[in-house]
Order: sequence, then structure tokens, then C-alpha cells
Amino acid sequence: MGGQVAAVREPTGAIDTNRMDLAAVGTAAKLARVFAKHTAKKWQLSTATCEMAEFVISELCGNAIKATGTIATVGPRDEPTQIINLRLALLKTRSIMIEVEDADLATPKIQDGLEELAEGGRGLFIVQALSKQWGFYHTVNGRKVVWAEIEAIRANSPGEVR
Ligand SMILES: Nc1ncnc2c1ncn2[C@@H]1O[C@H](COP(=O)(O)OP(=O)(O)OP(=O)(O)O)[C@@H](O)[C@H]1O
Ligand SMILES: [Mg+2]
Repeated sequence: MGGQVAAVREPTGAIDTNRMDLAAVGTAAKLARVFAKHTAKKWQLSTATCEMAEFVISELCGNAIKATGTIATVGPRDEPTQIINLRLALLKTRSIMIEVEDADLATPKIQDGLEELAEGGRGLFIVQALSKQWGFYHTVNGRKVVWAEIEAIRANSPGEVR
């Protein structure tokens, strides 16, 4: 976990990195999933790893959109559209570091005591379950990064890559 203020961290021991900026609008999570798939292919990751990365990326981007996004409207808007930065790194430690930066300073928090039948509120709980570790920090330029590190398993053969 985290919560401290720091410069945007460069992941240590990165074999390769890939990053994308997304407008914080409803279609961003879908674009982020396509980006995840493309990156998983480039890194020759197994189908299971690709699916896990897609889920975590989609969830973290979904949260960032909820926190900072604009619902599409027709006509002029008062506020400019916010930008979400998605950064992926393949680490030597056989992990993928997923980082999603947004402009909201509120603290991401796993929700306790959810009603059994509650429809939402489990996103971060599942991110935690799928990750080796996760956390967040605030950046010196007034933004926030939520990150999760997941296990990277390479595909056994090129045919396994989706
Ligand atoms: N990037 C973020 N910025 C600000 N607050 C966040 C962010 N991510 C999560 N949170 C806070 O943490 C809470 C829990 O997030 P979580 O993803 O578990 O649930 P949810 O997004 O509310 O519901 P669901 O993921 O099921 O749609 C959110 O309701 C929100 O208050
Ligand atoms: Mg969520």
C-alpha cells in the first residue's frame, strides 16, 4: 500500500515498458484492454497472464475514469477532459508492473462489509487477490498513481499467445 508523495517512479529492473495516455471517458477501459492485449502479445505472455493483466488494467482504469472522468455530452463543457496515464513494465522479477495515474487525490480503498448481494464495490478486492502487491502514491505534480504488480508467465509456444 502507500499514500506518500513522490516523483513518478520508474520501475526498477524493467526489461521493457509500454505506455499510453487515455482521455478519461467511457471508452477508455476498453482501449486499455486492447492495449494490454497488444502488449501481452509483444511480451509473449501466456493467455492466463494476458487475461489477468486485462482485468487489472481495466479495473484500475475504470476507477480512474469514475474518479476523474466526464460523461460524454453534446455541446460545450465547462471542464476540460482529464487524461489518464497507463504505464506497463515487464520486470526481470517475472512481474508486470501496471500503473494508472489520474488527477484525483482521493484514496483508493478496498470496501469492507459489503452486502452479499451488492452489485459493485469489489474491484480493488479482486485486484488485490490477483496481484503480488498493489498500492498507490501521490505525485509531486499533484496527481495520483495506483499500481499493481502481477505475475508474468511467458507463453509456452508462440501459438499460445492470443
Ligand atoms: N483511482 C481512484 N481515485 C479515487 N478513488 C478511488 C480510485 N480507485 C478506487 N477509489 C475508491 O475506492 C473505492 C473502492 O474501489 P473498487 O474498485 O473496489 O470499487 P468500485 O469502483 O466502487 O466498484 P466496482 O469496482 O465494483 O465498480 C471506490 O469506490 C472509490 O471510492
Ligand atoms: Mg472499481
